[in-house]
Amino acid sequence: MGAYYTPEEITGFMARQTIHPYLLDQLNKAEGTSYESIDDVFSLSEPNAGERVEQQALADGGVLAHKVNAGAIEQTHVETLYFDVLKDVRVLDPAVGSGAFLLAAQEVLLDVYLQCIEYFVEKEETEPWELTSRIKDEIDTIRDANGTVTLYAKREVILNNLYGVDIDEGAVEICKLRLWLSMVADIEDEPSEVEPLPNIDFNIRQGNSLIGQVDAVIESNDDGDSELDAWERKARFEDVKEAIQNHKSAESSAEARKWRKEAEARIDEHREKFDDILRGEFQDAGFDNITVDELRDWSPFHWPLEFAGVFEEGGFDVFIGNPPWDMLYANRDDFFIRYDEKFRIYPSEEKDDVMDELLSDPDIAGEWEAYQDSMDTRADFFTKGDTYRLQSPVVGGRTMPTKNELSALFLERVFRLSRDGREGESAPPRNDIREG
Ligand SMILES: C[S@@+](CC[C@H](N)C(=O)[O-])C[C@H]1O[C@@H](n2cnc3c(N)ncnc32)[C@H](O)[C@@H]1O
Repeated sequence: MGAYYTPEEITGFMARQTIHPYLLDQLNKAEGTSYESIDDVFSLSEPNAGERVEQQALADGGVLAHKVNAGAIEQTHVETLYFDVLKDVRVLDPAVGSGAFLLAAQEVLLDVYLQCIEYFVEKEETEPWELTSRIKDEIDTIRDANGTVTLYAKREVILNNLYGVDIDEGAVEICKLRLWLSMVADIEDEPSEVEPLPNIDFNIRQGNSLIGQVDAVIESNDDGDSELDAWERKARFEDVKEAIQNHKSAESSAEARKWRKEAEARIDEHREKFDDILRGEFQDAGFDNITVDELRDWSPFHWPLEFAGVFEEGGFDVFIGNPPWDMLYANRDDFFIRYDEKFRIYPSEEKDDVMDELLSDPDIAGEWEAYQDSMDTRADFFTKGDTYRLQSPVVGGRTMPTKNELSALFLERVFRLSRDGREGESAPPRNDIREG
C-alpha cells in the first residue's frame, strides 16, 4: 500500500493560506466589514496594554494562547462567522491520499471553531442577556455532548467541512483512519461516556476524480425531455442523503453497517444512469463502441451523486491538495512491475529483454495491448472530448493539445466542482497554461 505523505510545513501553510481568506471573504460579504485577518475579528492583533504577546498570529499558524477580549469583539460578526460561514464551508481534496491536507485543514478550522466557542462561553459568563438563541443552543449542545470542547469541534469539522476522494482504496482507508484517530486522541473521559464517534465513510470516497459527472443539470435527450431534471434529481437523491445521514448518526456499529450498506445500494442504483451519460460523453469524443463495463474499470466518480448533500448547495468552496504530477500515458514500468517486481530498477536494455520475454506469453501480450488502449482512450478523451476544454487551448489560432498532465486535469476539474471556489493545490509550473 503506497500512500504518499506531504510534509506538514507545506500542508499547514497551504491550508491556512487557502481557508482563512475564504472565511474572511464570506464574513466580510455577509457583514459589510473589511477584516483582513481572523485575528482581527477577535481583536487579537493589538496586544492589551502592558501585555507582551509573543505568540504567532492565527493566520501564521499560531494558536490562541490568551483569553479573548470579549468586550472588544462584535458578537454578530463572530456569530455569523461560526454559524453561517464556518459550519458551511466545504473543503475538498480530490486526490486525498493519506489525508495530509485534510488533517491540516482540520487544524486550521479547529482553531477558528475553538476561538468562536471560547468567545461564546466568555460572553455567557459576562453578558448572558446578549446571547442569541442559536448561541445558547450551541453552548447547551456542546455541554450535552459530554466530551471535551475540542472533541466536539473536531467532530463538527470532520462531518461538516472535510471531503476527499482518491482512486486508491488503500489510501482512502488510511485517510479515514487518520481522521478518526484524530478524534480518538481527544477522548479524555471513559469512552463509554462520550457520544459515539461519527462515521465518515461518505466524506472520504474511493473513485476517479477525473472521470465522471460533475454537472447538476443533465442535458435533454432526443425527445427533448430532461434525462434527470433538477427536481427529479433532488427528489431521487433524498433517499441517498437519508441513508447517509442515518449512517453518520448511527449509535451502534450494527446500525451503522446497515445504513452504510443501504446508502451504497442506493448510490449504485442511481450510478447506472450517470454511467450511461458518461458513455455518451465518450461516444461524443469518438469512442462509439465503448461499454459501460469498460468505463467502470476506471472507477468513474459521479460527484453530484456521491456528495449529494454538497451538490444540492452548489458544490465545494475550498480545494486543497497535492494532485499527481505525472503524465497520462502507457508506462511500461507501471505495467510490467505486475509481472516482475524489480522491473522499475533494471537498466533500460535489461528492461527491453525482460519485456520481450514477458510478451512471449500471449496472455501478458494481450493485457499489455489492452493497457495501452485503455491509456490512449483516456488520454484522447481528455484532449479531444468536450469535457476538458482547457486542455486544448487555442494559441495564435492554433489548437495546442496538452500532454495530459494529471495536475492540469485536476486543476480544470476543480473549477467545475466549485460553488464559488478558491483553490490551494500544489502544481508544477506550467508555461503553456500561463501563456495559453
Ligand atoms: C501526490 S499524491 C498526494 C496525496 C495527498 N494529497 C498527500 O499529500 O498526502 C497523489 C494522490 O492522487 C491519487 N490519484 C491519482 N490519480 C487519481 C485520480 N484520477 N482520481 C483520484 N485520485 C487520484 C493517488 O492515488 C495519490 O494518492
